[in-house]
Amino acid sequence: MSVPSVAKTDRRNFLKYIGTAAAGVAVGVAADRYSWIPSSPAILTQTTRTERVTDTITETTTKTPSCSPSLRAAAEARGLLIGSAADENSLRYAPFGTTLAREFNFLTPEWEMKWIFITQRGYEAADTLVKFASNHQMKVKGHTLIWARGFDPRLEGTRLPDYVNENTSVADFRRAIQEHIHTLVGRYRGKVYAWDVVNEAVDDIEGLRKSLFLDKLGEGFIAEAFQLAHEADPDALLIYNDYGAEGMGGKSDRVYTLVKKLVADNVPIHGVGLQMHINATGYPTAEHVAANVRRLAALGLKVNISEMDVRIRDVPGDTQQKLEVQRQVYRDIVSACVKVKGFMAATFWGFTDAHSWVDSFYGPDDPLLLDEYYKPKPAYWGVMEALLSG
Ligand code: G3I
Repeated sequence: MSVPSVAKTDRRNFLKYIGTAAAGVAVGVAADRYSWIPSSPAILTQTTRTERVTDTITETTTKTPSCSPSLRAAAEARGLLIGSAADENSLRYAPFGTTLAREFNFLTPEWEMKWIFITQRGYEAADTLVKFASNHQMKVKGHTLIWARGFDPRLEGTRLPDYVNENTSVADFRRAIQEHIHTLVGRYRGKVYAWDVVNEAVDDIEGLRKSLFLDKLGEGFIAEAFQLAHEADPDALLIYNDYGAEGMGGKSDRVYTLVKKLVADNVPIHGVGLQMHINATGYPTAEHVAANVRRLAALGLKVNISEMDVRIRDVPGDTQQKLEVQRQVYRDIVSACVKVKGFMAATFWGFTDAHSWVDSFYGPDDPLLLDEYYKPKPAYWGVMEALLSG
């Protein structure tokens, strides 16, 4: 997904943000549809007069309203983490950071901690995100130490550094992984709360997904990665993360079998991430997701929704109807999960439709909780309803 230069992003988004300020009150009115839900986030009440918008943006970049009703406040009232993916590029646009800190207490770097990006660009971008989280009392989930799939040209993050390839000896390959994990996890020891240690190792059809990790080290590469991460930071929560394994049956059963064996083998695994990249035209039922969360939690694992977004482009109907379907999907899935003991966090793969991987991967869509003007959508209120539900 290409991210335009900051200047263009700033100018375009600033204009959009002005639009938000003017439209802000409208959300308050819209929120009246859900009158029992606290009014819209403070940022919309802080912008009362257009001429003050500039000051307001300056003002809101310096303080994170702690008393305002927000997803963060609702999640913390339940002892839950609520998160978003964030990229360092977007942090340079003040309203992105202000909204991120106000609505979420859990930050996942979208790409800055991936092996190839660390190799190419060093730690500066990741340091910026970790520092932002610390400044706003947010926890960080490092993502991801091992993305266990072959290179997918649509996903740069799946590329391995040049120095690990099919010609690398097993000993050198193992050494490279050890150095990568010990260095990266060690650098953020005490600053990163949890790590997606291994991502997407289970094949969509059967067994483990073909990858250089599997070719070189065999199935044991998964346990080895968790062990290396635990050596580097014994206090970090170590997670196995995957997609398409949210409900019951098929791949979900294979992920369950994998993590059950890791637990039985005393591998230092502490949690599972269910990515939840779903299409509102067909997704696992809330009941099946809850049943899956329950069985994973019964293994003693903390369960996360780790990357939720809900595509609506193919949903029949007009925009309003699409957005209502999306609200219900977010509400039903999150509501089912938060009721399960052992469910730890719901993380969305971004929070504004102005920046989602979906657009470049699947085509233009509006999969997230706030629109491109940073205005809460019905989906936002669906998640709020889920967090406030009994
Ligand atoms: O680093 C460059 C930057 O220098 C340049 O200015 C910019 C524009 O060209 O591109 C930047 O890199 C891109 C990066 O996203 C930041 O936008 C990469 O080319 C691009 O491949 C990368 O895509 C990410 C993708 O993983 C691959 O790493 C997406 O943002 C990210 O949303 C996506 O997230 C994955 C999870 O890690 C795993 N689960 C699936 C999920 C969606 O694919």
